[in-house]
Amino acid sequence: MGYVPFSSPMTIKLNHTIVHSRDPRAAAEFFAEIFGFGPPVPFGPFLGVKVDNEVTLDFLDAADMEVQTQHYAFLVGEAEFDQIFGRIRSRGLSCWADPGKKHPGEINRHFGGRGVYFDDPSGHLLEIITKPYGDWSSITSR
Ligand SMILES: [Fe+2]
Repeated sequence: MGYVPFSSPMTIKLNHTIVHSRDPRAAAEFFAEIFGFGPPVPFGPFLGVKVDNEVTLDFLDAADMEVQTQHYAFLVGEAEFDQIFGRIRSRGLSCWADPGKKHPGEINRHFGGRGVYFDDPSGHLLEIITKPYGDWSSITSR
């Protein structure tokens, strides 16, 4: 079965996803504080943190499962980058210019913007970028 486009216009948006966490309360509060989102909202077994584009991150206790590391990337404004990066630094969090963590304490300048990676309390790799990903071949340095 191949790609079959819809014949009528439809809107499909990512609405929510579950973020398995070692400590969902700590993780949800970390996200809310580091990004400046609203406070976590309980919803059944989840703690929801709403991102500005209407996606909700539902933090859930991984219980006895090992947390499988995921990657969550956020497109942020220039002012928001400064604020978030400032919080990363003021908390003394480790950060890297690259997902392989070979360039600690640095940011990258990919696609004419700024980007940096850091870990959430469960080990998920977070990324903030001020420009969307573009042409891969344009990446010549961190
Ligand atoms: Fe990424």
